[in-house]
Amino acid sequence: MNQNTGGYQDNPFVAQLYDQVIPYRDRPDVAFFVDFAQESGGPILEVGCGTGRVLIPTARAGFPITGLDLSQHMLEVCQQNLVNETQEVQDRVTLIQGDMRDFSLGKTFSLVTTPFRPFQHLLTLEDQFSCLTSIRRHLKPGGVLILDIFNPSLESLTADNLGEEIGAEPEFTTPEGIKVLRSNKTISRDYINQINQVELIYNLTHPDDRKERLVHAFYMRYLFRFEAEHLLSRCGFKVEGLYADYQKNPLGFTYPGELIFVARAC
Ligand SMILES: C[S@@+](CC[C@H](N)C(=O)[O-])C[C@H]1O[C@@H](n2cnc3c(N)ncnc32)[C@H](O)[C@@H]1O
Repeated sequence: MNQNTGGYQDNPFVAQLYDQVIPYRDRPDVAFFVDFAQESGGPILEVGCGTGRVLIPTARAGFPITGLDLSQHMLEVCQQNLVNETQEVQDRVTLIQGDMRDFSLGKTFSLVTTPFRPFQHLLTLEDQFSCLTSIRRHLKPGGVLILDIFNPSLESLTADNLGEEIGAEPEFTTPEGIKVLRSNKTISRDYINQINQVELIYNLTHPDDRKERLVHAFYMRYLFRFEAEHLLSRCGFKVEGLYADYQKNPLGFTYPGELIFVARAC
């Protein structure tokens, strides 16, 4: 497994099912990112754009947006999703396969976004630094980065559930009639490097009752609030906002909540 890419390239089934997974489909962040797009006026770069969950609504709202993602499978689904959009919307979108750790797109943006934590698939400080430096190079003077990561919950980090399959989600049925019930498992916690090894388990029941178990295994590095602030500062950003959720409530409004940084290139 390539440890720095979130397992999206190694597991094509994730891209095929992604838009149907209920917590992804219902994630309440789209309006938040579209509002920032509006404020910036565009153009926008979404780093780790995936299947276009946020990218396509942003293009629909009238803004030119480039989506960068390393997974060919996620980009293929994004391309298929775009086919259902008007020509105008399609014309606003550019998709690029590339690694957020080091990219050169030959243009600059007013806003760079990272919806739903792609940055946390970077497992070393070097990779984080190189990614933020690449992003910084792609921002217009005074442009804004929204770094969207989760606030690590001390309770979850110390929970006595290593190796346990937990957290079954509401079941969904694919257009092919396959029933999918997802659960998750934490395989290991590396407290020194702040890396969790996680599995998302897709339990499938096919229309002929055949059972199948697919595993999306990946690593995620968590960052604490002040660590992320220092990192952003070191990479040429000034933090102007920090939210706990996509309704723009401040950090501390809920625990653990998210860590959503609004950071301006300086
Ligand atoms: C949780 S998904 C988020 C997708 C999308 N932003 C959304 O909100 O639905 C994380 C995405 O990050 C991408 N990704 C992971 N590592 C990457 C890397 N090193 N460079 C570019 N994209 C990467 C994955 O391929 C995946 O599409």
